[in-house]
Amino acid sequence: MLSRREFIARGTGTAFTFAAAAGSTGLLAGCAKNSSTHPPTVASFHDLAGSRSLRAHARRHGLIYGSAVVIPVVKENADFASLLSEQCGILVPSNELKWVALRPSREAFNFGPPDFLYDFSQRNHMLMRGHTLCWHQSVPAWIKTIDSKDEIRQIFVDHITTVCKHYAGKMQSWDVVNEAIEPDDKLPGGLRKSFWYENLGPDYIDLAFHTARAADPSVKLTYNDYGIEGDSDNDAEKRRLILEMVKGMKNRGVPIDAIGVQSHLNAGEEYGQGVADYIEAIHQLGLEVYLTELDVNDDSTATDDVPQRDAVVAKTYTDFLTAALPNPAVKLVLTWDLSDKYTWLNSLGSHRKKRPNRDQRPLPFDADLKPTDCFYALRDSFNRHKLV
Ligand code: G3I
Repeated sequence: MLSRREFIARGTGTAFTFAAAAGSTGLLAGCAKNSSTHPPTVASFHDLAGSRSLRAHARRHGLIYGSAVVIPVVKENADFASLLSEQCGILVPSNELKWVALRPSREAFNFGPPDFLYDFSQRNHMLMRGHTLCWHQSVPAWIKTIDSKDEIRQIFVDHITTVCKHYAGKMQSWDVVNEAIEPDDKLPGGLRKSFWYENLGPDYIDLAFHTARAADPSVKLTYNDYGIEGDSDNDAEKRRLILEMVKGMKNRGVPIDAIGVQSHLNAGEEYGQGVADYIEAIHQLGLEVYLTELDVNDDSTATDDVPQRDAVVAKTYTDFLTAALPNPAVKLVLTWDLSDKYTWLNSLGSHRKKRPNRDQRPLPFDADLKPTDCFYALRDSFNRHKLV
């Protein structure tokens, strides 16, 4: 596996060089070393561009920082588009590469929105990753009406082939399979009882990875999951099941390059040894680790006082990153959006919120695009970790 220094200097092993993800070398000049001093006021988010950006701080420490993006927002909000280009070295579309969005019908592929984001990423010297080729939550209605399992299998293979070929040599990585483990479903190996499992059998995961590799020989192929970040017994069991699955894949010669740790955290929860050991186990398997969907849900925090809430959220970022970042297997850190204005946590139905009338503040920039305590928690966490 490439060290972080080689990763930055030589590229990812894909068609990309990670120099692109940092933009111009000027971005790195004057990057503050270990300052935890927050500017008392930031007049505009542009004050945090260039060498003061998360992108530059991450790169200086051997990491690529980026964000998920709800694509229409990039067209509608020019300020937000500027913020993205200033802060991010990698983007991932939140929704538009999922089956439901990309395959409105059996015949159609809606590549327009993700192609737009790819062009935007290129213009701004960013990388892009793909999410996701197979997810139980994004199965279009039309495929569920097909009775023949052989036909579903053929559509599955054709979909992955077409999508991966469309972006061959362009994506840094693909979340090939997302969230395939669910211990509560009581299936062998802890596999989730999903549409894909039920129609294709347990080998659908191997099939997805082999098909993706055949269509794009250089992209990093990733298995991505959640509920594995904490120190609870449930998280520990899910980590064990994922490691068991991945070891099996490696033994069978299935092409897999990386594991995604989604990192949807809860404010005030303990994050430490469990995730550190998990990342080390992945490192020992020779795979990379991507923190793919980082944010902090503070729905359970009792106080409504914003500075107090922000401090708890920022500490949660710091604790988690302190456990995760020292391991050289960790190469990418992406938050699940960049601004609180667009976080999925504020669009959840009220039945999924304890405090439906309170907006969450889980991300590095608030709804007015002002930096939050999370920005500084991320920046300072990057600064504490060396290029190794
Ligand atoms: O685009 C349509 C719009 O046309 C329609 O009017 C509107 C009405 O509900 O829906 C819009 O689509 C929504 C889409 O987000 C875009 O905003 C979908 O209903 C909604 O289900 C979808 O939610 C996304 C969710 O995944 C399901 O795909 C969230 O934005 C997205 O943040 C979330 O992301 C997931 C990751 O993929 C996997 N890990 C967990 C993460 C958070 O749940």
